[in-house]
Amino acid sequence: MDVKEIIKLLNEDFVFEIEAALVYVRNAFIMKECDPSRVTEAIGIDEMRHMNWLADLIVKRGGKPSMEHHELDFGGDDLKGMLARQASLESGAVERYKRHIEVIGDADKEVVGVLRHILDEEKRHRKEFRERLERLK
Ligand SMILES: [Fe+2]
Ligand SMILES: [Fe+2]
Repeated sequence: MDVKEIIKLLNEDFVFEIEAALVYVRNAFIMKECDPSRVTEAIGIDEMRHMNWLADLIVKRGGKPSMEHHELDFGGDDLKGMLARQASLESGAVERYKRHIEVIGDADKEVVGVLRHILDEEKRHRKEFRERLERLK
């Protein structure tokens, strides 16, 4: 795996981090309930930290972070829909980071170290959203 391919994978992750950050910032304001709103806001800030870590890795390897995002799906305006959408974004992130860690492997240990750290945080995020979703049932 050459550096161009690594930059491409990191930019793919970067664009998903932008999507999650935008969805969470919006949803934190729309949620009327205090606890899920605060958790969503805090996790949105985690996603922005992930953007910074990824941008740092990209630039250090001669790339540029792509400032794009997918079409946004917020999960609607009710708490259940928003939490379900957020849990699904985290599941997508967990699967994607696992895949990228696997394919990059020994080609770049620094990148894999950072992606592992992010992966742990995405698992925790998914747990936080799932727990709050469970409470609504
Ligand atoms: Fe993230
Ligand atoms: Fe996350």
